[in-house]
Amino acid sequence: MTVPFLDFKSQYLAIRDEIHAAMEKVMENTAFAGGPFVAGFEEAFARYCGCRHAVGVGNGTDALWLSLMALGIGPGDEVITVPNTFIATAEAISICGARPVFVDVDSRTCNMDPNRLEGCLKKGKAPLARAVIPVHLYGQVAEMDPILEIAGKHGLPVIEDACQAHGAEYRGRKAGSMGETGCFSFYPGKNLGAYGEAGAVVTDNDAMAENMRMFRDHGQSTKYHHGIIGWNARMDGIQGAVLSVKLKYLESWNQARRSHAHAYNRLLSGIEEVTLPYESEDGKHVFHIYAIRTKQRDRLMAHLAGKGISCGIHYPVPIHLQKAYQGLGLGPGSFPVAEKCAEETLSLPLFPELTEEQIEGVADEISRFYG
Ligand SMILES: Cc1ncc(COP(=O)(O)O)c(C=O)c1O
Repeated sequence: MTVPFLDFKSQYLAIRDEIHAAMEKVMENTAFAGGPFVAGFEEAFARYCGCRHAVGVGNGTDALWLSLMALGIGPGDEVITVPNTFIATAEAISICGARPVFVDVDSRTCNMDPNRLEGCLKKGKAPLARAVIPVHLYGQVAEMDPILEIAGKHGLPVIEDACQAHGAEYRGRKAGSMGETGCFSFYPGKNLGAYGEAGAVVTDNDAMAENMRMFRDHGQSTKYHHGIIGWNARMDGIQGAVLSVKLKYLESWNQARRSHAHAYNRLLSGIEEVTLPYESEDGKHVFHIYAIRTKQRDRLMAHLAGKGISCGIHYPVPIHLQKAYQGLGLGPGSFPVAEKCAEETLSLPLFPELTEEQIEGVADEISRFYG
């Protein structure tokens, strides 16, 4: 039995006719860059997230960057985030000219630890901080209430990196709807994935939404009249149309992911060497990634690969230990929890179309590995 890490094809085949019809409409209307199909998706996605605005952009990295730009963050500023995330979170900060300051994570969730955020601010470790970016890693929302409270006490806006958390919830609120902005990636493998690159920022802040709409379109609100220096960070019409179709299925796909995750939990719960993903009672985890932890991670991964089961590691090197961030001067031991996550975490195959047989096959091989 082979079990892929992701399977785009079976999902595509299930919605093929709808997708083709939606794409054909874009072509018939020649609405390729921005336009009505992007606007239609923005309206539906804003409603879904419970926000006043959604601004469609080129990808999730753009969404983070535009949020920071709209807050006026630039050279000389610091932005607080976590070290165990995809590089884009830190890149967006750096590309503005600001400096990322990391705080370590909660060992159960691998999400920003509010106590460490408070400690960082109290001890003056980020005197030039202008914003905080918690990451909702693997599809579970960070502890937003304490994070918002601590950031608020210090006058810092919160940008949610919700690139892995489409539809996740925290105390009844949707991921992305709690901070000043929420940033989404629609990279194909995401819970809501485009057929190419796409992203969005959601916000209730009218002025920021207006600024980001101008910024993504060369700073213009009227053609060839440029009020600010912007960039090209628009979403394609085809992606808007595809995402509008797929958004209708997001809740049921997330439900399928949750039930597969719970099936893995049941089947793996007896294995002492494996720590199962922690699921907070404060919200709804949407399992973009099902990550177990084990000290024998590399050997287990190789064993599974030998049996045709593809896994992933999210992420093998924390940002402060990446060559690109050597300039920060942060060596091993700076963020012990994040570093331990990087050593032990293993992402098992998880996608809505995964079958019971595949889940059992993966769990059987893991059990066999541990004897
Ligand atoms: C946590 C996180 N932030 C940001 C991004 C960047 O999104 P994109 O690849 O669409 O630019 C990703 C995408 O993988 C992500 O997982």
